[in-house]
Amino acid sequence: MQIPTWPRADEREAELLRMVLDSPQWGGFHPFVAEFERSFAAYQHCRYGIGAMNGSVTLELALEVLGIGPGDEVIVPAISFITTATAVSRAGATPVFVDIEADSYNIDPHRVREAVTPKTKAVIPVHFGGVICDVKALLEICREYDLVLLEDAAHAHGSEHDGKRAGSFGLVGSFSFQNGKVLTAGEGGMLVTSDDSFAERARSIANCGRVPGRSFYEHHALGTNFRLSALHAAILVAQFERLPEQILQRETNLRILKNLTGDIKEIVWQIQSPEQTQNAHYLVTGRADCGTRNEFCRRLAAAGVPVTPFYPHTLYQNPVYQREKCRVMPCPIAETRIHDSFWLSHRAFLAPQETIQEIADALRAAVSASRVSVLS
Ligand SMILES: Cc1ncc(COP(=O)(O)O)c(C=O)c1O
Repeated sequence: MQIPTWPRADEREAELLRMVLDSPQWGGFHPFVAEFERSFAAYQHCRYGIGAMNGSVTLELALEVLGIGPGDEVIVPAISFITTATAVSRAGATPVFVDIEADSYNIDPHRVREAVTPKTKAVIPVHFGGVICDVKALLEICREYDLVLLEDAAHAHGSEHDGKRAGSFGLVGSFSFQNGKVLTAGEGGMLVTSDDSFAERARSIANCGRVPGRSFYEHHALGTNFRLSALHAAILVAQFERLPEQILQRETNLRILKNLTGDIKEIVWQIQSPEQTQNAHYLVTGRADCGTRNEFCRRLAAAGVPVTPFYPHTLYQNPVYQREKCRVMPCPIAETRIHDSFWLSHRAFLAPQETIQEIADALRAAVSASRVSVLS
């Protein structure tokens, strides 16, 4: 199959990297860093962007700025990448794991409400695979109990609900530019916010406690160095130029794939709200109701489709949370999804349209073969 590799670069990355290499500044003070912070934050409908080394330290930085620590609880979904939860633990606070919705794979606001206690300080929803959470319900809960909404938007560059982009719903949004993401420099991250004092404090902590207008060796906050490098920013500026077009291509190709496979009842795709106006489609997630999910994925992979049989664990089933303090609410849906679900990489949807037909054929063949393997 003609599925492009990821990440991919061309002469534009080489040109911008050369500009950095030819300059006396390869670190976080090159103008490319500020330029990318400004333009990416604006793209996500926020006033400020604070670049950082990755999308794990951005979560830790956000929690630090919020003053969340020992004795506090933070509600997180049972399904995500591990650092959504470990950021909370590393801050000294307790992650509280709650279940996801059966069809959106996103944190269930009803379960969030049940998990709130007087110790709860924040909720960290993840826009899973690019599908925006039920932000309206989550914001209502946050308002009612005076909680901070910190969006883990690591999957949701460009994702949009009713014209408003990921990261702009809560006080702050956290993005990752890690190797597999739809916008990547191999590593990288950013906090986006429109809150002046949050931005000021986050920028200072991430930059060794410096404050604008004061001298380089004057440090006001107990900060550290989380800065994004100019080399990463150069790649991100180039990649970002292609993001809007790539999102449109993925949206079109996924629509075609869903039309071609609409009659396959055994594949149940992740559902987004009708109010979602754009989707990054970082992970095209679905359920394989054909018998064995693993056999289905094995056959798809053998046909050349970039597929992953979901996360092997809920977050709290990871060895780290057999040891670390946490609170686990009942999560029957998350525990089911780890056995029946899969995702296709976003790069499959940057393929030419003939390849989308081949992916549809491979899905059909994998469903019937795994159905047969169960019956026989
Ligand atoms: C939901 C989520 N949160 C946080 C992260 C952490 O980002 P990074 O790998 O840039 O540290 C990732 C991905 O890697 C992620 O998928």
